[in-house]
Amino acid sequence: MSLKQFIQDLRERKEIAKSGGGEKAMQKQKAMGKLNARQRITSILDKDSFQEYDMFVEHVARDFDMEKKVLHGDGVIIGTGTVYGAPICIYAQDFTVAGGSLGLMHSRKICKIMDHALKMRVPLIGINDSGGARIQEGVNSLAGYGEIFFRNTMASGVIPQISVILGPCAGGAVYSPALTDFVFVVDNISKMFITGPSVIKTVLGEDYTMEEVGGAKVHCEISGNAHFFAKSEKECFEQIKKLVSYIPRNNQIWAKRIEAKNPQFDKKIESIVPGDPKLPYDMRDLIKSVSDESEFFEIMEDFAANIIIGFGRMNGESVGFVANQPMVLAGVLDCDSSDKAARFIRFCDSFNIPLITLEDMPGYLPGIDQEHMGVIRHGAKVLYAYCEATVPKITVIIRKAYGGGYIAMNSRHVRADFVFAWPTAEIAVMGPEGAANIVFKKEIADAVDPEAMRQSKIQEYKEKFANPYVAASRGYVDEVIEPADTRSRLLHALEVSRDKVAYRPEKKHGIPPF
Ligand code: HXC
Repeated sequence: MSLKQFIQDLRERKEIAKSGGGEKAMQKQKAMGKLNARQRITSILDKDSFQEYDMFVEHVARDFDMEKKVLHGDGVIIGTGTVYGAPICIYAQDFTVAGGSLGLMHSRKICKIMDHALKMRVPLIGINDSGGARIQEGVNSLAGYGEIFFRNTMASGVIPQISVILGPCAGGAVYSPALTDFVFVVDNISKMFITGPSVIKTVLGEDYTMEEVGGAKVHCEISGNAHFFAKSEKECFEQIKKLVSYIPRNNQIWAKRIEAKNPQFDKKIESIVPGDPKLPYDMRDLIKSVSDESEFFEIMEDFAANIIIGFGRMNGESVGFVANQPMVLAGVLDCDSSDKAARFIRFCDSFNIPLITLEDMPGYLPGIDQEHMGVIRHGAKVLYAYCEATVPKITVIIRKAYGGGYIAMNSRHVRADFVFAWPTAEIAVMGPEGAANIVFKKEIADAVDPEAMRQSKIQEYKEKFANPYVAASRGYVDEVIEPADTRSRLLHALEVSRDKVAYRPEKKHGIPPF
């Protein structure tokens, strides 16, 4: 054959491999409102940057007549490319080929690109669209999953790992996404569960739809398994690209600096927080009033909304915001919000992203439900994550900072680098009402007018403790600042702490209250 013929032969082979499960299966995928695997990859990556590997890999199964089946690429596409010019490793399961089910060679391809990602220190994006373990390949499929989970764990904290659920992700398969840093889901397309409707029906006799068990909304609002919700695949891919722009390629470097086009200070800051401490406000407005371009990329928006987490930029550098949300449950810490915050703090700490904490919370959520759900164990995760974190950590106490919440929300005592307080801050063991009832119980009971006595004791307690000056007099708060100075104080604090060095004792690893 001439070289020309060799090239022609190669091209034909590639065309066949790219046909996936064939025209009919591709049409079925389209009819479900889903893009195919290659379209998904190229929609995320920079134009023409995708380089594919292992296109000609075939399965090696010999049972159940599998030797008669051709499964192009064994149902998964792997490769490298760039997002905004930065390298990325990526894989996408191809549902048109045997339902994207995971057999031995399928898993080897995923493991190959995971090994590359870890070795080259570049982020990994995994697109899941699969019927799970390939039933015909038995324990080889299970082994494949185990190899993937091991690699997910080894890569954790070294390279960012992003999972995208664009179809079924069932049974044990869900544990790869669960071991990664961010999970993206799309309305009506993502289905993620350990036991689906049919198993639940068989075991418990209860009827549910797949959407009710593990649809996108369920994971964004109830289970907390997903971090980003999109209405369409297109919107989801935009979200992924935005996330990638905020985070570094690996744990050895800082995220890329992106200069603000219009770094105007938003003077609205003084009108956001109401004078009456009982009135709520949207903490997101405050975050936006200090961040570059008033931009805030929120994570887990609809789960445990009493705490807010997400990325912004300060003077072009990525920062992670953790903030209480007075609009939801007065911004208390509870089991779910503690989990949400702790995990984000650990991500930022692993990837050199400074943390800014904005605090306004009356403490932990009281109640038997929370106690029985383990608010002690969950709440401890926030303490652990802040204590352990060595990235620059700055806190601004806006209003309430009561009890254990004061300590947990990056106080000086868990090693905040800078703590600022607004003059409206109230820092005390508990709220004035509760404190007066306990400390002055006898005086109130013995008084001629107990209610008048109670009010006067509340007032007395407020004047004494519900302000930032007691904490400032001990140096727990570095400076009581005017609201309008918040951004400039934060910018300066970030600048001076950029090369921060913080030591922690040598150990194999700690034992966080998982
Ligand atoms: C082999 C599979 C498969 C699987 C789907 N297919 N799942 N082949 N192993 N696990 C094949 C189908 O036979 C079919 O092949 C093609 O993929 C498309 O599947 P359909 O059923 O026609 O598609 P759809 O109606 O859209 O249903 C999708 C589905 C369903 C909901 C995912 O296929 C399904 O329930 N699959 C089984 C899911 C499951 O129980 N998996 C095991 C989970 S346990 P043809 O040739 O007809 O096109 C597990 C353990 C992992 O994963 C443990 C790790 C620790």
